[in-house]
Amino acid sequence: MTVLITGGAGYIGSITTRLIRSTGRGVVVLDTLENGRRKAVGDAPFVQGDVADTNLVERICKEHGVDEVVHFAAYKAVGESMENPTKYFQNNVTGSQKLFDGLNRAGVQRVVFSSTAAVYGTPTRVPVREDDPLSCESVYAETKLMIERTLGWYSKTTNMRSVVLRYFNAAGASQDCTLGEDWRHSQNLIPHVMKATLGFAPALKVFGNDFPTPDGTGVRDYIHVEDLAAAHVAALDHLKKGGESITCNVGTGFGTSVMQIIDATERVTGMKVPYEIVDRRAGDPAECYADASRINAAFGWTPKHSLDDIIATAYAWHSSHPQGHDS
Ligand SMILES: NC(=O)c1ccc[n+]([C@@H]2O[C@H](COP(=O)([O-])OP(=O)(O)OC[C@H]3O[C@@H](n4cnc5c(N)ncnc54)[C@H](O)[C@@H]3O)[C@@H](O)[C@H]2O)c1
Repeated sequence: MTVLITGGAGYIGSITTRLIRSTGRGVVVLDTLENGRRKAVGDAPFVQGDVADTNLVERICKEHGVDEVVHFAAYKAVGESMENPTKYFQNNVTGSQKLFDGLNRAGVQRVVFSSTAAVYGTPTRVPVREDDPLSCESVYAETKLMIERTLGWYSKTTNMRSVVLRYFNAAGASQDCTLGEDWRHSQNLIPHVMKATLGFAPALKVFGNDFPTPDGTGVRDYIHVEDLAAAHVAALDHLKKGGESITCNVGTGFGTSVMQIIDATERVTGMKVPYEIVDRRAGDPAECYADASRINAAFGWTPKHSLDDIIATAYAWHSSHPQGHDS
């Protein structure tokens, strides 16, 4: 059994690649290396290339005997997607459609896809459930929803089955501190907290402390990247056993505020987090966290790592890799 892992040289992809290999599956990673690093793939079979190259995808699948795919490859910066929508529609949507064409040609029928909680926009309630209203507030989120819908149609019209995983906030690094996120390319809170704590950036900007939340700061659902990786293995197992196409939230099921992240960072690292309160950003919801009961019921998946694990691994990784894998 071989899994094609697109975007496997990136943050979540590299950690998932390692976990999938440890379960006995073969892998082949396809990545342009635009935002990923060859080093993160280690000695796993690797092809440098674009998912939009349908002929390449078909050839890789045939040569490596691929029967399953985990599709991470995408651009993910929300702000950039609003400034340059074409870049996002082309890479995320057209690129995925070309990938699926190559998979169809090669007869690959099982796909796990990286979607995002951003498809809910400002949730109508929390914890947010998969069948709650979808309301994309960025081009990035819209590209993910378009691929979700594409996969939905493939499930109806072809033999392809898929698991759509809507990630909440991926965070932390591998326990052994060899794989993690590059804070130079990340818009996420925890890399910013670490950057400020370690003195690589000025004080952390906390966007608003007047939200209707217990301490006034925004509340999100932080999921350890190794728990997220385990959700992909569970999704592959589900499809291998003949499971139906399904869309699942991947989160812890509880919310953590920005102030709670700052407090946890100070407690776990023993360092001060310099921060300043600034105005809210337009469109930031007060609270967004997952109802994770569907993925638990469907795959038996539950997160194993605590917030302290997230902070400890992020701190260990960032303090030793200030230039990501280029360090
Ligand atoms: N990080 C998060 O919190 C988060 C949350 C929700 C969803 N996601 C999604 O999860 C996936 C992985 O995120 P990440 O944080 O690991 O991002 P990342 O940028 O670290 O990894 C993405 C990888 O895809 C590669 N890539 C991009 N376009 C490609 C193409 N056309 N062909 C081949 N390779 C290509 C990049 O070089 C990079 O290595 C993305 O699809 C992202 O949208 C991430």
